[in-house]
Amino acid sequence: MINIAIDGPAGAGKSTLAREAAKALGFVYADTGALYRAVALYCHRNGVEPVGALDKIDIKLKLKDFAQRVSLNGEDVTEAIRSPEISAMSSRVSPLPEVRAFLLDLQRDLAKQNNVVMDGRDIGTVVLPNADVKIFLTASPEERAVRRFDELAAKGSSVTFDEVLNDLNKRDRDDSNRKEAPLRQASDASLLDTTGLTREQSLKRLLDIINKKK
Ligand code: DC
Repeated sequence: MINIAIDGPAGAGKSTLAREAAKALGFVYADTGALYRAVALYCHRNGVEPVGALDKIDIKLKLKDFAQRVSLNGEDVTEAIRSPEISAMSSRVSPLPEVRAFLLDLQRDLAKQNNVVMDGRDIGTVVLPNADVKIFLTASPEERAVRRFDELAAKGSSVTFDEVLNDLNKRDRDDSNRKEAPLRQASDASLLDTTGLTREQSLKRLLDIINKKK
């Protein structure tokens, strides 16, 4: 199986580009952030802390037609995990070693069974250290905030640009400074900075890197 690992900070365009790259290659796309979000959603709904609740949580990623559906204890939660509340909650659950260990086998099994483009924060460093291609995808904080702001505004959100930028900066700090599997570029990953690039240009660069290395 061919495994492609894409890591990087929030709002770098990882999920869009990883999904489009998977489609171009005929691979499945796996968004691992959705797993942390599903754990967060369970804890939020039930008012519980994750440690102790993990044995009650059954998460499945259904990889179909290059899109991904997420199920939590049999319920499709693909849309429910995208709210700002769950974004905030997911950065509280993701530093916990128990949560990371709980989700590790699920991610590795997906990669064992599929040609996959997998995106996250620690895919190239921890989850798939032997991935065939590793890419660290980033963009300046301002550019990432503009993209996220436009996305939220299009959905009718009344959030301000400053709120979006502050939230991104906080998540970058949290993800990079945590003890367990912090966000960092694997030593053998190619860096792709998409600041100033259009989506099409970014995808072309991403596919160039993949096709050269895979
Ligand atoms: O990429 P995202 O915003 O959907 O990620 C949700 C949260 O999960 C975020 O706090 C980062 C964390 N995460 C992680 O720690 N490791 C991953 N492989 C993917 C996401």
